[in-house]
Amino acid sequence: MDYFELLDQVHRAYRPRGYVEIGVSQGESLRLVLDGTHAIGVDPAPRVKYPLSSGTVVEPCTSDDFFARRAATAMGDHPLDVGFIDGMHLFEFALRDFVNLERLANDDTVIFIHDCLPNSAIEAERNRASRLWTGDVWKLLVFLTERRPHLEIVVTEAPPTGLVAVGGFSGERGADLDDDEVESAIEAYVNLGFEDFERFRDDNLTIVAGTLDSLRPLFPGAPWQDVNDVAGLVAARDARVVDIPLSRRIVESRAVHDARIAPAVFLNWLKYRL
Ligand SMILES: C[S@@+](CC[C@H](N)C(=O)[O-])C[C@H]1O[C@@H](n2cnc3c(N)ncnc32)[C@H](O)[C@@H]1O
Repeated sequence: MDYFELLDQVHRAYRPRGYVEIGVSQGESLRLVLDGTHAIGVDPAPRVKYPLSSGTVVEPCTSDDFFARRAATAMGDHPLDVGFIDGMHLFEFALRDFVNLERLANDDTVIFIHDCLPNSAIEAERNRASRLWTGDVWKLLVFLTERRPHLEIVVTEAPPTGLVAVGGFSGERGADLDDDEVESAIEAYVNLGFEDFERFRDDNLTIVAGTLDSLRPLFPGAPWQDVNDVAGLVAARDARVVDIPLSRRIVESRAVHDARIAPAVFLNWLKYRL
């Protein structure tokens, strides 16, 4: 199943109490959230066109800003059960997103990472050169595999570019990286090339089917919410219409979208000169 179908299965089967999605775009994955989940989508330039649950809020800012300023208030006392990283497709952004989500994690949290299995070198370019663009998010998978061996990582082939699930945060609270360690990890991994990805994939990865069965070992604490009528929740979700308040229906042109994310991309380029 593709990554939308797999995320849909996760919402149905495990019903997270708190869900944070980095990178919303039109809301196609965020719309999968069921009622009862406190969901936050983060995107500096969201163009939401899918109907979202009443428990979903879109934070129109970069993920770095969100974690620095808004995360604690936005989460309130809702535990982060599931996170999904699908924002800026550059290693350093994805790494920071992972570390920031990990800081909110509980023992049973599962963090999904999209786009770790590029199909070709061009898809994996740091400067976008193809319609389907994974960027170099795959370096996060290499980093986690090599430097965070206590984590449980399931790599699914969910099309088009894989969905990785990470759990096993149990017992490792306080072991998350500080800002200096994040910077040195970026320096160490950012210059890997696509041939390093291919070698790593062939030598180290067990890529499994994109099914709930593959993920089950990561979810010992779930389902998090007891619901008698999951089918009813799904039916209610699928019957939703686009009735979100105007303030959240942030529909923008591609030009406005690009202009909004340009400063973050430019500052990042300056920093790493790539
Ligand atoms: C691939 S799209 C997300 C797709 C969505 N998750 C889905 O599957 O339907 C990536 C989004 O990340 C957003 N983005 C770019 N830079 C970001 C940042 N620094 N923080 C959060 N989101 C960012 C872009 O605006 C874009 O909408």
